Amino acid sequence: MPSPTASVAGAADWPEVAALRTRVFVEEQGVPAEIEQDDADATAVHVLSRDASAQVVATGRLLLDGPVARIGRMAADVAVRGRGHGAAVLAELHRQAAARGAEVVELHAQLPARRFYEREGYTAVGEVYEEAGIAHVTMRRGLP
Ligand SMILES: CC(C)(COP(=O)(O)OP(=O)(O)OC[C@H]1O[C@@H](n2cnc3c(N)ncnc32)[C@H](O)[C@@H]1OP(=O)(O)O)[C@@H](O)C(=O)NCCC(=O)NCCS
Repeated sequence: MPSPTASVAGAADWPEVAALRTRVFVEEQGVPAEIEQDDADATAVHVLSRDASAQVVATGRLLLDGPVARIGRMAADVAVRGRGHGAAVLAELHRQAAARGAEVVELHAQLPARRFYEREGYTAVGEVYEEAGIAHVTMRRGLP
C-alpha cells in the first residue's frame, strides 16, 4: 500500500470534506453541528487525503489571519486511522502554510491526539483547557 498523499481541496470537494467532519466530530465525538462548521471555513485552506477508492478519508484546515498560521478540524475516518492519512494531511498543511509565508503553526490538540502531534514536531504550550466539551492543549511548531 503506497503512503497516502494529501492535496488542497477544491470547492467541489467541500461536500465530502464536510460529511467526513460531521461523521468524526458531530456523530463520533458529540460536538454540536452548529459549531462544527463556522465562518472560517469560507476562507480556510482545506486539505484532504483519499483512499484507494478515491473516497475522502482525512482532512484538516489552515487559517492564515496573522503571523501564526492555525491548523484545525483534523479528522481521519475511523476506518483508516493509523495508516498515515492524518500525517499526510498535516504535512500538506505545513507546506501550504510555509508557501504563504508562515513561520509558526499552532493548533488546539485534543489530549488523546497529543502524541500524534508531538511525533510531527509539535510542543505543548500552556495549560489544558476545555473546548467543545473536549480537553485540549495548544501546540506549536516552527516551519522550515
Ligand atoms: C488525530 C487523527 C486525525 C490522526 O489521523 P490518523 O490518520 O490516524 O494519523 P496517522 O495514521 O498519520 O498517525 C497515527 C498515529 O497517531 C496516533 N494517534 C492519532 N490519533 C490518536 C488518538 N486520538 N489517540 C491515540 N493515538 C492517536 C496513533 O497512535 C498513530 O501512531 P502509530 O502509527 O505509532 O500507532 C485521527 O486519529 C482522528 O481523526 N481522530 C479523531 C478526531 C480527532 O481527535 N482529531 C484531532 C483534533 S485535535
